[in-house]
Amino acid sequence: MKPSPKSIKIVEVGPRDGLQNEKTIVSTADKITYIKKLIESGLENIELTSFVNPKNIPQLFDAKEVIEAIDLKPTYSALVPNIKGLERALETKIKRIAIFTAASETFNKKNINMTIEESIKNYKPVVKLALEKGLSVRGYISTCFICPFDGKVNKEKVLEVTNELLNMGVDEVSIGDTIGSALPNDIYETVGFLLNTIPKEKIALHFHDTYNNALVNVAAGIDLGITTFDSSSGGIGGCPYAPGASGNLATEDLVNFLNTVNVKSGVDLNKLTEASMFMKSVLGRPLNRGDSCKGNS
Ligand code: HMG
Ligand code: MG
Repeated sequence: MKPSPKSIKIVEVGPRDGLQNEKTIVSTADKITYIKKLIESGLENIELTSFVNPKNIPQLFDAKEVIEAIDLKPTYSALVPNIKGLERALETKIKRIAIFTAASETFNKKNINMTIEESIKNYKPVVKLALEKGLSVRGYISTCFICPFDGKVNKEKVLEVTNELLNMGVDEVSIGDTIGSALPNDIYETVGFLLNTIPKEKIALHFHDTYNNALVNVAAGIDLGITTFDSSSGGIGGCPYAPGASGNLATEDLVNFLNTVNVKSGVDLNKLTEASMFMKSVLGRPLNRGDSCKGNS
């Protein structure tokens, strides 16, 4: 790895990516307690919830109530799939939204019932209105490396979709390994290709950790100059529309790794573990990570 950056931005997606995939529907009060504990751990960028159709994702039915209970910062976001989702978001004080599409057709259709082209058309007025209303917008691209339905994904397609999102006014594009099956050579190939024409500050990496490769992929990302990574406390998470997708890279693993290479994340590992342990007790199941990290901060 090249010399480490001084600091890394972590985007905590546990309350959204984590809880959307749980069998248990967590109560609004417990979601709020969890988010407050995450905030106490020092996490500055948190995806709080999502404004998708609650018939599709009933776990996040209470997006408005959750947001209203949090002392909001402009760096806290909510996922928005369409203009209806934005209208719901605008009824709250959320200042950042995240739109999401994919680099593979079959996954996108299953996830949001749109082709990639239709999704771009769908998001243009969403981003325009959000920016006019003073919100900032993040973009996600799923299945940037391997699609559970279509197989290997072309880096040219990832670049094309990234440019579409950036041209709309999205300030950061999160490149997703949705099913956690990418390896460092895939990161070098695809992310390296993006960085030929796109400034590294515009790219974030979002790794699911199905085969325990997320951390080595983070190291590859850092090597390429990327300084923003998504993760979820306790490693919870997954996409209900991506068979085989397990949890996200655990924030504990990411912080622990950054601590050992002397890169600042601003996160207190003990407090983060408290948040994960709280969610573990609520979910009543072991988490992918959490217990083992206590005391390492
Ligand atoms: P659709 O069925 O094509 O939408 O769903 P529609 O426009 O035809 O509307 C159908 C019904 O849904 C209507 O209600 C709408 O009002 C309602 P009805 O007339 O039947 O009563 N509706 C909504 N209700 C509330 N909020 C909304 C909304 N939109 C429509 N925003 C849609 C299209 C995208 C909405 C749907 O497919 C959906 O909600 N999908 C959920 C997708 C999702 O949340 N996936 C997980 C998140 S993505 C992810 O995890 C990947 C990521 O982590 C990166 C990675 O890991 O790769 C980001
Ligand atoms: Mg995800």
